[in-house]
Amino acid sequence: MSSTQQETQAAVSATEGQFEPRILAFCCNWCSYAGADLAGVSRLQMPTNFLVLRTMCSARVDPEHVLRAFAKGADGVLVLGCHPADCHYIGGNYRTRRRIALLKILLEQYGLDPERLKLEWVSASEGVKFQSTITEFVDKIRELGPNPLIEAEKEEEAARAENAH
Ligand code: FES
Repeated sequence: MSSTQQETQAAVSATEGQFEPRILAFCCNWCSYAGADLAGVSRLQMPTNFLVLRTMCSARVDPEHVLRAFAKGADGVLVLGCHPADCHYIGGNYRTRRRIALLKILLEQYGLDPERLKLEWVSASEGVKFQSTITEFVDKIRELGPNPLIEAEKEEEAARAENAH
């Protein structure tokens, strides 16, 4: 069964079991974290299925951080940074853009839909964009279903437990 089929199947069973995605959002300190803060103080309504991890720059997000997030059970990972030309470390976000494109290819190799990883530019004044990015991403991941790596791990564990009896 292909990874896409597995994910579709997971999505169907997830709907039945009220799947709530777990999202990790890396936000750069200077723009996106402030955008998230603005969304919060403006009391904009959005899903609460996400954790924010503040980094000094989007370029601080190492590919290993993203892979580890998926390995530890994240269903989706967002990387949010300053708009092009606004990065406080000059070209950090350009590096991030290239890195995310490569990471998406890598995710496919691991059997994960590359849409589980998303890069978006959110400035400090874009609370509404932060809200819509989170809302749309949670919907997308809900559609894709639970992280298939974790699901496969659970199945393996169940099989091992059954064989032990
Ligand atoms: S400081 Fe925001 S992306 Fe570099």
